[in-house]
Amino acid sequence: MTKAFRTALCPGSFDPVTNGHLDVIGRAVHLFDRVIVAVGRNQAKAPIFTVEERVQHLRATCGELDGVDIACFSGLLVDAVRDFGAVAVVRGLRAVSDFEFEFQMALMNRELSPDCETVFLMPSPKYSFVSSTMICQLARMKGDILPFVPDVVARALEERFRDPV
Ligand code: PNS
Repeated sequence: MTKAFRTALCPGSFDPVTNGHLDVIGRAVHLFDRVIVAVGRNQAKAPIFTVEERVQHLRATCGELDGVDIACFSGLLVDAVRDFGAVAVVRGLRAVSDFEFEFQMALMNRELSPDCETVFLMPSPKYSFVSSTMICQLARMKGDILPFVPDVVARALEERFRDPV
């Protein structure tokens, strides 16, 4: 019997990508043949980085991993899942507090598209408190973000929040 080639879609805002995201992506790579990390275009949010910058950060940090592709998508996630030929959506679950929103989103997506399964992966506990929002806040206030984000993101945040001279 031939084994099916399985693609997973790992969607997110990635504004910016954190070490927690990279931990989850690394775990997904072990479970699927191909992992497409896709930045969602969301008009409702005012992002720190453009979609193109976020794609660049992802390319620099995990684009070289075997089986990983970086992309972006607009519109509904279920449509992106179909267009990319993915068998599952991968989302990270850091703590119980993530669960309610993620559960709701997974069930809504399955309602919209009955084949759309969501797989939740837990990052290492050392990242359980790391969020993109908190990282941006920390960077804005000149806190030390180096332990939580890849170097390319740390440099980009430093640049973004540099005091005007
Ligand atoms: O990293 P985030 O901000 O938690 O990622 C959220 C994302 C991009 C996965 C989510 O906003 C999304 O799926 N957007 C596409 C619109 C959609 O399909 N929403 C869910 C059904 S209403």
